[in-house]
Amino acid sequence: MDKRPIGVFDSGLGGLTAVRELMRILPGEDIIYFGDTGRVPYGGRSRETIMKYAREDIAFLRSFDIKYVLAACGTVSTNGLGEIKAENNIPVRGVAGAAVRAAVRATRNNRIALIGTAASIRSGTYDRKILDLRPDCELYKKACPLFVPLVENGRIEKDDQVLRLVAEEYLAPLRDAGCDTMILGCTHYPIIADTIRDIMGEGVTLIDAGAAAAREMAEDLAETGSINTEGGEHRYFVSDSADGFRETAEMFLGSGLKGEVRRISISGE
Ligand code: DGL
Repeated sequence: MDKRPIGVFDSGLGGLTAVRELMRILPGEDIIYFGDTGRVPYGGRSRETIMKYAREDIAFLRSFDIKYVLAACGTVSTNGLGEIKAENNIPVRGVAGAAVRAAVRATRNNRIALIGTAASIRSGTYDRKILDLRPDCELYKKACPLFVPLVENGRIEKDDQVLRLVAEEYLAPLRDAGCDTMILGCTHYPIIADTIRDIMGEGVTLIDAGAAAAREMAEDLAETGSINTEGGEHRYFVSDSADGFRETAEMFLGSGLKGEVRRISISGE
């Protein structure tokens, strides 16, 4: 057993989709979460800036003695995560690989839809991973840049009119393409899964990238005998208002956010 905490980060609230799954499957793990809410969204930024932010986020998490980093951010996972893995002497996992593996297992008609931030879609990382595993699959993709700001502003209810209008415009072409599986390639998107499901139709399997990565991480920990069964403490850090984060996080996690939320200063500038 390794009692050191797991570190999880995202640009904001999205990584909570991974935390929710971790809490379910690894209830004894201590988790340290960092949401870079002062600099969200990452998805419209250059690769250099995304890498710089990701390095700073990991450096903050590593100021604690953590055993594993989960980059619960599709944008970071698709923009240079290999370099970041090489720079760290503890395991670092992103969300793209796990999401793709889950999607190719789920599809029946080999038509997979992908939604993500502009930087994730531009990177071509999901496309390459799908091609590697299943060259017979067709990928239909769409960048959805307005979803992250909507989620961060708490516009997550299924009957939210603004969210609905935006989602209709983004998703209609993917629905019309007849995809039976959709990768939610940004970890913010499962927070609005009800709206997405309503537009795509019940028959479409939605792949939650953060949850898929959390499950693969649990397998890694099991293989190395590192699962902690005696903890369960969760601490949250953000780079902007702690109150705003807590409010939306509670709407999403449902049961209420257990553990403290603290604001910290992240930028090395
Ligand atoms: N949750 C992040 C992702 O998975 C959002 C990125 C952003 O801040 O634009 O891509």
